[in-house]
Amino acid sequence: MFVTFEGIEGTGKTTQIARLRDHLESRGREVFLTREPGGSRVGRELRQMLLHVNNSDLTAITELFLYLADRAQHVAQVVRPQLEAGRVVLCDRFADSTIVYQGFGRGLDIDMLRQLNEVAVDGVWPDLTIVLDLDPEVGLERATRRNSEDGKAMAEGRFEAEHLSFHRRIREGYLTWAALNRDRIKVADASSGSDEVFGRVRALIESHLPGLA
Ligand code: TYD
Repeated sequence: MFVTFEGIEGTGKTTQIARLRDHLESRGREVFLTREPGGSRVGRELRQMLLHVNNSDLTAITELFLYLADRAQHVAQVVRPQLEAGRVVLCDRFADSTIVYQGFGRGLDIDMLRQLNEVAVDGVWPDLTIVLDLDPEVGLERATRRNSEDGKAMAEGRFEAEHLSFHRRIREGYLTWAALNRDRIKVADASSGSDEVFGRVRALIESHLPGLA
C-alpha cells in the first residue's frame, strides 16, 4: 500500500504521518516513511537546491524538472523497492504537489504536468492521497515559526517566502484537484488539534483502505 499526504505548508503532515506509522505498526504492519523532495540520496541534494531562499532565481521550468528528477529517483530507488518488499509506504508529498504548486501555483499547463508525472512515477501511483486542508494564514504562520525555530529559514524557506496569494492559490488548487480525482484523493480538515485530525485520517484509512488498519 502506498499512501501520500499533501497540503500547504504548516498543516501538520509530518505529525500525522508519524502518528499513522505508529498506529499501523501497532497493528503489525511494516511501515516505511519517506518524503519529497529529498527521499533518495541524490534527492537530498536536489532538495537543498530547491528549497534554499538564495535560489529565488530558479525558473518555473527548472524548478519543475528538479522536482521530477527527485521523483523519478525516489520512485526507482526507494518507493518501488519498499512496496515490493511488502511495506506500507507513507510519503510526505508526491506527484500531486507538482500539479498543485507548479500548475495551480506557477501557472504551468496541468495536462503537461500530468504527462510528465506519468514518466516520473512510472506506474507507481498512490492507493490513497490525503490532503490536509487548512487556512493558508494559519499554515504559513506555523511553517514560518517552525523554520525559524529550527534555524531553517534560509535553507528551506523559499516557499514560505511566497506571498499569501500564492498559498491561497495552492489551497484552492488542492481542493479543485481533489474534486477532479475523488476516487484517490480525500480531503481532511486540519484546522483542529492533532488528535482530532488524526481521527479523521484514521477514518479515511479505514473506509478507503479496509484491511490495512
Ligand atoms: P517541505 O519542507 O517538504 O514542505 P512541507 O514541510 O510544507 O511539506 O518543502 C517542500 C516544498 O516544495 C513545499 O513548499 C512544496 C514544494 N513542492 C513543489 O513545489 N513541487 C513538488 O513537486 C513537491 C514535491 C514539493
